[in-house]
Amino acid sequence: MKEICDEGLVFPDRYVSWPDVDDAFWHRAVESAVGQVQVNTGLFRDGLYPAPASLDQRYPAIGNTEWTSSFWTGMLWLSYELSGRSPFREAALAQIADFKRRLDRRIAVETHDLGFLYTLSCVAAWRVTGDEKARRTALDAANLLMGRYYERAGIIQAWGNLDDPNQRGRIIIDCAMNLPLLFWATEQTGDPRYREAAARHLSAANEHLLREDGSSYHTYHFDTKNGTGLRGSTAQGSSDSSCWARGQAWGIYGLSLGFRYLRNPELLEVASRLAHYFLNRTPEDWVCYWDLSFTHGSEERDSSAAAIAACGLLELACHLPAADRRRRQYENAAANIGASLASKYAAQGEKGANGLLKHAVYSKPANEGVDESCVWGDYFYLELLARLQLSWKPYW
Ligand code: GLY
Repeated sequence: MKEICDEGLVFPDRYVSWPDVDDAFWHRAVESAVGQVQVNTGLFRDGLYPAPASLDQRYPAIGNTEWTSSFWTGMLWLSYELSGRSPFREAALAQIADFKRRLDRRIAVETHDLGFLYTLSCVAAWRVTGDEKARRTALDAANLLMGRYYERAGIIQAWGNLDDPNQRGRIIIDCAMNLPLLFWATEQTGDPRYREAAARHLSAANEHLLREDGSSYHTYHFDTKNGTGLRGSTAQGSSDSSCWARGQAWGIYGLSLGFRYLRNPELLEVASRLAHYFLNRTPEDWVCYWDLSFTHGSEERDSSAAAIAACGLLELACHLPAADRRRRQYENAAANIGASLASKYAAQGEKGANGLLKHAVYSKPANEGVDESCVWGDYFYLELLARLQLSWKPYW
């Protein structure tokens, strides 16, 4: 594996304390977030889901056709676990048939995001309730995801049809979060092929997507015939050579989850270096800009990247030995991010807003969902609250 430098934490004092908030603060944050999910159950039901990003702070309702549908289902599962209220469970269970239909009819499934889609809908359903139909649907999704794996190159293509010359052999850092579906499929079936594909993809990602300074490319192109790495590029970052904040956050969390399954200590060390690069570029209020080349000024924040990174930091921390001082630092950083999100970024339904978190960015280069709510940001904010409040077992 490539040598990646560790910047260390630039202002270590910043990471020595938990935020100055009490239990009632977290309780109010959970009540408010779950309350918004409750309101949204009236809008997003019967085959309708929030669009990836809000428009003027309100999510349009769309069919189950985006890479993001399952973040809504995941929020229903989290709300059920956080509140114990059974209508959330019933609403989430009702969506399993819709995810099965999407898979059977092959609706917008030419994407590695089958991992997000079927982990937060069907694996979560199986983990929380033991639902057998959900388990079988998730295994079917894992099989379809395996169809995107190039054995010779050891990579999983991110986007589009495998014959598309612009997308063939292109991987993206986000994929690390799609791999738990494959690890889970090996656990369920005993068939090692899923796990091998995921492990080889992670190793190719470490080799090519991660730069020596601890930052990451968003995407990387390979020659699928022989596995030769060709070049890094971006789709949503500020430039090919910059570090897109959400990509870095997906990397922190995805590699830490990879460790959960593979127990390869190098994955933890690389995740830690990504984390330091990320944290060192986090402004005073703990919420990053949409690209880590910005550390101050008027560019937009991406609250969704902050929420993902915080969940990743907690995943990373729980695998470090108690004596490792980084463990406490990452826990404190995650809680500070959570406290900042809850006090300054959480939407309160003002002017009809129906997201949980304001000030996220979907794609600045495409001018899409800029300074809006993004549905994955809402999901990871709720997951962060669950991680901070419950002894929550990951769906991943
Ligand atoms: N995985 C796509 C995104 O984060 O926008």
